[in-house]
Amino acid sequence: MVFEINNDFVQVGGVISAILLLASLRVKVSCDEYPAMSCRKHSAFLTDFGGVGDGKTCNTKAFEYAIRNLSQYACDGGALLVVPPGKWLTGSFNLTSHFTLFLQKDAVILASQDESEWPHLPVLPSYGRGRDAPGGRFSSLIFGTNLTDVIITGFNGTIDGQGSYWWDKFHKGELKLTRPYLIEIMFSDHIQISNLTLINSPSWFVHPIYSSDIIIQGLTIFAPVDSPNTDGIDPDSCTNTRIEDCYIVSGDDCVAIKSGWDEYGIKFGMPSQHIIIRRLTCISPDSAMIALGSEMSGGIKDVRVENITALNTQSAVRIKTGAGRGGYVKDIFVKGMSLNKMKYVFWMTGSYGSHPDPGFDPKALPNITAINYRDVRADHCKYSARLEGIPNDPFTGICISNVTITGGKKKLQWNCTHVGGVTSKVLPKPCKLLPEKKKTFDCPFPEDKLPIENVQLKTCCF
Ligand SMILES: *[C@@H]1O[C@H](CO)[C@@H](O)[C@H](O)[C@H]1NC(C)=O
Ligand SMILES: *[C@@H]1O[C@H](CO)[C@@H](O)[C@H](O)[C@H]1NC(C)=O
Ligand SMILES: *[C@@H]1O[C@H](CO)[C@@H](O)[C@H](O)[C@H]1NC(C)=O
Ligand SMILES: *[C@@H]1O[C@H](CO)[C@@H](O)[C@H](O)[C@H]1NC(C)=O
Ligand SMILES: *[C@@H]1O[C@H](CO)[C@@H](O)[C@H](O)[C@H]1NC(C)=O
Ligand SMILES: *[C@@H]1O[C@H](CO)[C@@H](O)[C@H](O)[C@H]1NC(C)=O
Ligand SMILES: *[C@@H]1O[C@H](CO)[C@@H](O)[C@H](O)[C@H]1NC(C)=O
Ligand SMILES: *[C@@H]1O[C@H](CO)[C@@H](O)[C@H](O)[C@H]1NC(C)=O
Ligand SMILES: *[C@@H]1O[C@H](CO)[C@@H](O)[C@H](O)[C@H]1NC(C)=O
Repeated sequence: MVFEINNDFVQVGGVISAILLLASLRVKVSCDEYPAMSCRKHSAFLTDFGGVGDGKTCNTKAFEYAIRNLSQYACDGGALLVVPPGKWLTGSFNLTSHFTLFLQKDAVILASQDESEWPHLPVLPSYGRGRDAPGGRFSSLIFGTNLTDVIITGFNGTIDGQGSYWWDKFHKGELKLTRPYLIEIMFSDHIQISNLTLINSPSWFVHPIYSSDIIIQGLTIFAPVDSPNTDGIDPDSCTNTRIEDCYIVSGDDCVAIKSGWDEYGIKFGMPSQHIIIRRLTCISPDSAMIALGSEMSGGIKDVRVENITALNTQSAVRIKTGAGRGGYVKDIFVKGMSLNKMKYVFWMTGSYGSHPDPGFDPKALPNITAINYRDVRADHCKYSARLEGIPNDPFTGICISNVTITGGKKKLQWNCTHVGGVTSKVLPKPCKLLPEKKKTFDCPFPEDKLPIENVQLKTCCF
């Protein structure tokens, strides 16, 4: 059954009886509201397409059938597919345009551990290679390409990647293709991923790539802190992206902004830019709260970060790059960090290594400049900073102001090489390469708003 919803009112065709009308009105009265970039006129349940939520039956065909069927409404108000409470085992499936995948409370999508349920895809053009193995890669659990207006949301339903199968293969060196991600959307625009719990991804959790106009909101992401490469959210060659109110515990960077790998990323040349991240909370003992790189060969610019919190995390907003990457990281603005139990408060690495193949150009030096941090409180931290630029390619225009760091017992609190910039009101005293100015100042933070910040979500009715 496919029924029509007109945002606030349930529209009823002439053929439908008065009894159904009353039932529909009751639906309206008890309607649950959810925020979305676009509401949908049509909706249907996974069970309408043969879905069985017993945790055992495979639903790959049901998802495919449902989404193919609902794609017919793309030009007629769009459609929403409801995943009801239950455990819905499935392999990889593809999304469509003008479409919402909606997980009710207590709906759990369980990723299949049967490899035949995971189609293969070619490597990403800006990477040239798979990250786990040089050949191709497995399609992500939820995949979309060349789409517009696609939403994955719900009342905090769960997507469980059942990643242990893949982590074991990774540790044993048995992977012949690169592991799947949990959600990947490529070459698309107007994307929303919100109000969900995502657990145990085989590798990265959320990977928008070559895409724009993206809102990621209200995600709770959990993976064991020792699971391999379980990055939380990785905008990759993306423009106009807003990430807010997310809580992430993971085995790798909570957020990593990327733009392609060495010679492949330089050639593809698609930057990540105009990105805002706010109210993020992160726990990741061996990784960063937000990494810029290490794959940054298409460039990363205009990233704004506000009011973020990390505890028991290796570093806060870290730059990872090296000779061979090329590209740039510039115009980065961080304001308001509350940190507890960090190894490094500030960390920049200019010798990251990790090249796709011997074909990289060691003369392709990245340009790292205009990196601004202000208003930071950090307690129980081992080191204040390890800022390592590249010989003959210093990281410049670093600005750090209004920072208090406590807890460091090691002598060299600020270890700086090949970097330049200024500081104001920073404790403990910074290194000589970042002299503290007599006249105090605040590091810049843009006063304008990005277009994606002005996008208001509509109140839709389910
Ligand atoms: C799929 O769409 C058609 C309309 O083209 C509709 O008649 C049919 O009921 C739908 N299938 C299911 C299982 O809902
Ligand atoms: C999903 O899309 C990809 C890329 O277009 C394609 O290779 C794959 O076959 C599609 N999968 C299904 C199940 O249609
Ligand atoms: C998707 O978009 C990309 C970039 O515009 C294009 O190169 C590719 O051919 C498109 N793929 C499909 C299946 O339309
Ligand atoms: C969503 O569910 C997760 C896991 O149960 C929970 O930790 C989180 O607090 C929930 N979020 C909201 C907004 O209820
Ligand atoms: C979705 O998440 C946002 C941000 O966390 C929250 O404000 C909103 O209440 C949530 N909506 C629903 C329907 O859970
Ligand atoms: C950040 O926190 C400050 C102080 O609590 C508050 O005034 C400001 O509105 C917050 N900004 C965002 C984007 O949450
Ligand atoms: C690095 O970028 C800055 C700002 O865009 C520019 O002024 C400078 O010339 C660039 N440096 C190099 C070595 O390319
Ligand atoms: C300095 O940073 C703290 C947060 O650590 C903030 O509460 C305070 O308002 C900032 N002071 C100024 C003058 O901006
Ligand atoms: C200082 O940083 C450099 C470059 O990252 C590193 O090689 C060196 O070991 C560090 N020194 C200490 C004492 O941590």
